[in-house]
Amino acid sequence: MNIHNVKLTVSAVSEKQYPKTEMPEIAFVGRSNVGKSSLINKLLNRKSLARVSQTPGKTVTINFYNIDDTVHLVDLPGYGYAARSQSEIKKWGAMIENYLRDREQLIKTVLLVDSRHAPTKDDCTMIDWIRAYDDSGVIVVATKTDKLKKSQIEKNLELIWETLELCEDDVLVPFSTKDDEGKFTVWDIINMLLSADAKSLEE
Ligand code: GTP
Ligand code: MG
Repeated sequence: MNIHNVKLTVSAVSEKQYPKTEMPEIAFVGRSNVGKSSLINKLLNRKSLARVSQTPGKTVTINFYNIDDTVHLVDLPGYGYAARSQSEIKKWGAMIENYLRDREQLIKTVLLVDSRHAPTKDDCTMIDWIRAYDDSGVIVVATKTDKLKKSQIEKNLELIWETLELCEDDVLVPFSTKDDEGKFTVWDIINMLLSADAKSLEE
């Protein structure tokens, strides 16, 4: 995809602030610190459009990035960040759940997991959530593969595949911001989703 214009439409803390556009949305979810904001920057070749930090819990709003008035890439707050208060966890949990459940423009939710570790209980809960609202196959991105030895990557991908009980309709993409691993595959997937969506609107 040749990108010309990228802008942050809104950092939303409530439904009222979500963009009023009809543009399709693709959301990225995953544990805090897994690399959601970094992946969006990498896809867009921007260094710091989406805020990235060493400190987990950086993204606390739902951020909608408008790509050439064609699609919104949506950066969701991460889960599993222990230092948040219970009331914050509740508030954000509800915000994320409501978005994933009710948002009509949302055409796909992409789950990010850390390629170095087995998926957590929270990751398994999240994939169940995604499957509950979309039965057309899950897209999972395994981040930070540059931190693994080549020989380890394959083993860990197998572990992720098994733990998340992925099947032939699902896709697992290794990804790193340090090189171009996964970048073109994720773009191919986004473009496929967008053309399938456009087709379904024509029918
Ligand atoms: P929250 O906003 O807290 O939910 O986190 P996030 O999922 O948006 O993670 P973020 O993109 O802020 O990245 C967290 C940390 O991981 C940062 O220090 C990034 O530089 C680092 N990181 C992300 N992706 C990669 C990667 O592919 N390789 C390496 N080595 N580091 C990465
Ligand atoms: Mg973030």
